[in-house]
Amino acid sequence: MAENNTSAAVGGNGRNGAPGRHRLVVLVGSVREGRFGPVVASWVAEQARLHGGFDVEILDLAEVEVPLELPAVSPKAAGGDYPRPAGMAPLTEALERADAFLVVTPEYNHSYPASLKAAIDWHFTQWTAKPVAFVSYGGAAGGRHAVLHLENVLTELHAVTIRDGLAFPNYFTSWQDGRPQDPDAPAYAKTLLEQLAWWAGALRAAREAVPYPA
Ligand SMILES: Cc1cc2nc3c(=O)[nH]c(=O)nc-3n(C[C@H](O)[C@H](O)[C@H](O)COP(=O)(O)O)c2cc1C
Repeated sequence: MAENNTSAAVGGNGRNGAPGRHRLVVLVGSVREGRFGPVVASWVAEQARLHGGFDVEILDLAEVEVPLELPAVSPKAAGGDYPRPAGMAPLTEALERADAFLVVTPEYNHSYPASLKAAIDWHFTQWTAKPVAFVSYGGAAGGRHAVLHLENVLTELHAVTIRDGLAFPNYFTSWQDGRPQDPDAPAYAKTLLEQLAWWAGALRAAREAVPYPA
């Protein structure tokens, strides 16, 4: 069953992304052989397109180069001069142009996959003053431990994490034919997307009005 803990949709669309929509990147966090992540990402991307307030792009970490070995300097210190591999460019460019993120994550040993941590650590300003929502899945906990860790990490990068999330416990029985069996799941997703759209518009306006003091 999908879970969130909000009883009503909050906020308006606040659409000011070009052309009239927010640029949303759905990040597929797992790269494991036989992974379930793309199924979840595909469904949530469909929900975001149905919402109507987003230009949606799926970025699959399995399709970009994300080495574990980092350069000597940090991306925070190096800024625009940070030396990234050529194969990482699609990821960096997608993060750069995004107004909002939906991070799709499983739970590995009560946290999120190393692939996702590496992708986060190669970047800094690309996350700053942008909203991030989470869609998690796993065993009984539905990926909640992974999301708690991600909230902590992304706060360090000055991202704004959204309180509501979608969690899918026991995804191996609760999904069929590429979609969750819980009939309420699309409504939960809509609430989450409303909040994400509100923050995307508010933070984009703020970034454009005043440089973020990081
Ligand atoms: C290394 C590893 C550790 C895992 N640890 C957990 C865990 O702590 N909690 C949980 O609910 N599921 C755990 N699982 C099960 C995953 O949630 C499940 O395999 C899921 O499909 C992983 O997502 P993926 O298919 O996109 O890789 C683990 C799976 C792997 C491969």
